[in-house]
Amino acid sequence: MVGSESRYQAFLDQRAREGLRRSLLAVAAREARTIGVEGRSYLNFSSNDYLGLRFNEALIGRAIAWAQGWGVGSGASRLVTGNLELFAPIEAKLARLKAKQTALVMACGFQTNAAALQALLDRNVLDAEPLVFADRLNHASMHFGCQAAGVRQIRYRHCDAAHLGVLLGRYQGDDRPKFILTESVFSMDGDVAPLGDIAALARAHDACLIVDDAHATGILGAGGAGLSGEADIVIGTFSKALGAFGGFVASTETVRDYLINRCAGVIYATALPPPVLGAIDAALERVPGMDAERAHVASLAERFRAGAGAAGLDTGASTAQIVPIVVGTPEAALAMSGRLRQAGFWASSIRPPTVPPGTARLRLAFTAAHQETDVDRLLDVLAAARAPRRARAI
Ligand SMILES: Cc1ncc(COP(=O)(O)O)c(C=O)c1O
Repeated sequence: MVGSESRYQAFLDQRAREGLRRSLLAVAAREARTIGVEGRSYLNFSSNDYLGLRFNEALIGRAIAWAQGWGVGSGASRLVTGNLELFAPIEAKLARLKAKQTALVMACGFQTNAAALQALLDRNVLDAEPLVFADRLNHASMHFGCQAAGVRQIRYRHCDAAHLGVLLGRYQGDDRPKFILTESVFSMDGDVAPLGDIAALARAHDACLIVDDAHATGILGAGGAGLSGEADIVIGTFSKALGAFGGFVASTETVRDYLINRCAGVIYATALPPPVLGAIDAALERVPGMDAERAHVASLAERFRAGAGAAGLDTGASTAQIVPIVVGTPEAALAMSGRLRQAGFWASSIRPPTVPPGTARLRLAFTAAHQETDVDRLLDVLAAARAPRRARAI
């Protein structure tokens, strides 16, 4: 065993002692509403497939057709021979959805944030270290991109435009390039950034506003356009409401061209494969017409929040299809997830470092595949799961 192995093992042991060790479970998912794990079926409340498109016939059909017509792989990076003619119409549809000049499809959402932010924040190109103002709960992939660019983030309090304004004010007159980074819908909280106020600050301080619209694209906004309308640069993913896989940047032509020339995730990664492109293409066609599904999901989430509030559960500031139940310690989150599992519900626990210490939670997500009775049954089980703990506390 090489010396580093014992260090890795010590890390794992430490994580286990803290109730934070993670492991992979094999999941049988053959339709949108349920998953099978170790031979048992569960109602799935931990999926990001918000519109249930993952199993949509049109997406599957086009994935198959494009695999048959174009092969299962793209064969090279986009700058070599992987830029199949399939990309251009997809990027045109995406630019239309996002109301931006243009769009660039990349490998996945994580890679898009990690690699595009590294390029966009490159001090050598910008001629100075940029001033990067970031919501303190931004997704790990955004931090990764900032780290890769070697920039120190100036963190503002979560969703707090007033605090952002104060921090921007401290740098008034500083002519280094300024950026503001935020998610639109926060992935672990289901709350929505005050994007109107943030965009106004960006304009007032001549800052470039970059919004990660991963959890709003397809499921929120007019025609499923998401909530990033006022952003200068939009980053997103096809892996959530669009049911497929892949990341994107929607922007001006100049930014797109710059990324093609400077973004490692574009230059050094094999292009997305044709079946995935087929699914994306069909999803982009369907999403604008899915208002009924979007309304259904919104009403399920609202129904759940009302019931959870009445049962004394802490759902934070959620207003979207993602609803956390914040319980505090990793042990409490694991225990609640376990109780739900016994009752036939799958609701993954989310623990630090994914969320801040003391805010371990269940992260529930409502989708078009759920029914009102699913939500009511979930609420019943949650209420019952809480009852004995309360009794003990008294
Ligand atoms: C806000 C946010 N950005 C980016 C990503 C990464 O997207 P992908 O899963 O496509 O890599 C995620 C997914 O976890 C996310 O929640």
